[in-house]
Amino acid sequence: MTDKPIVIAHRGASGYLPEHTLEAKKLGFSMGADYLEQDLVLSRDDELIVIHDIHLESVTNVVQKFPYRARDDGHFYVIDFDWDELKQLKVHERIDPKTGLAIYPNRYPVYKGNFNLHKLEDELRLIQVLNKKNNKHIGIYPEIKKPSFHHQEGKDLAAKTLEVLDSFGYVSKTDRCFFQCFEQKELQRVRHDLNSDLKLVQLIGGGPDNQMATLDGLNEISDYANGIGPALDRLFSAADSSEGYSSYQLVIFPKLVSMAHEQGLLVHPYTFRKETIPQDIDLVTFGKMVLQLIRIDGFFTDFPDLGVESVNRFLESR
Ligand code: G3P
Ligand code: CA
Repeated sequence: MTDKPIVIAHRGASGYLPEHTLEAKKLGFSMGADYLEQDLVLSRDDELIVIHDIHLESVTNVVQKFPYRARDDGHFYVIDFDWDELKQLKVHERIDPKTGLAIYPNRYPVYKGNFNLHKLEDELRLIQVLNKKNNKHIGIYPEIKKPSFHHQEGKDLAAKTLEVLDSFGYVSKTDRCFFQCFEQKELQRVRHDLNSDLKLVQLIGGGPDNQMATLDGLNEISDYANGIGPALDRLFSAADSSEGYSSYQLVIFPKLVSMAHEQGLLVHPYTFRKETIPQDIDLVTFGKMVLQLIRIDGFFTDFPDLGVESVNRFLESR
């Protein structure tokens, strides 16, 4: 168990500014997050783009800018565009492309502002400059998105990511970098075939059954990873639900965390959001309560300022 749980700015300070923009990362940095997250997808010309989806239409104006570039399934894939094209797109608050409406209506107004996509190297340079200027050591938390899809397309997302991380000095487990992925085989490959010495985090999605969340599964993970990133609904019933619910309805499942710790694995659950916690409690109080009830080692949050406040109040209460 970590003494001071870390706060990971999920897609930057994405509760306040459009996700994965450099502006959202700067804000997350200024709010005191310990780590800033980067989701990664490759462009056609092998640039690492910081974006959550392998498609573009939920967070950019690709439909207006390049209307004839969808595949037969109707999606506009990042991997079908060169960086010279991607950099022409405007980024906006996340929408449901079917309706054009915001996923989180109380966040940054949709279609407003002047935001762009960026490459991983742009963000790493920015973080290192900010660290130097402010005498800080804010870390990075890259996630390779759908590496098996990239393999099908003839691309090696993991290898390219490791190459860029290496060029910025992120190479060993002592560096301020956690490398995360949902796909178990790919994360095993990163450790055993690509011989990475970075701290690796196995993401474990929500839902009823997942062998990775069992004692045997965690034991296997401990062979190649340093931590797990479980969905919040693996720690609480009802958590991460879009339906309104009360804190009295929460049932806590502490076992996954204790089993992971027994295997020497850190636990960084995702995602603490104002919109998905119980209605009768604020995010700071919720965060403090979680830290008191379950000894997690950190958490992803869209609201890093509130996450930092939760950790501070938790530490004061000990
Ligand atoms: O990486 C932790 C969390 O971000 C995983 O979920 O879908 O937001 O990337 P997602
Ligand atoms: Ca992620």
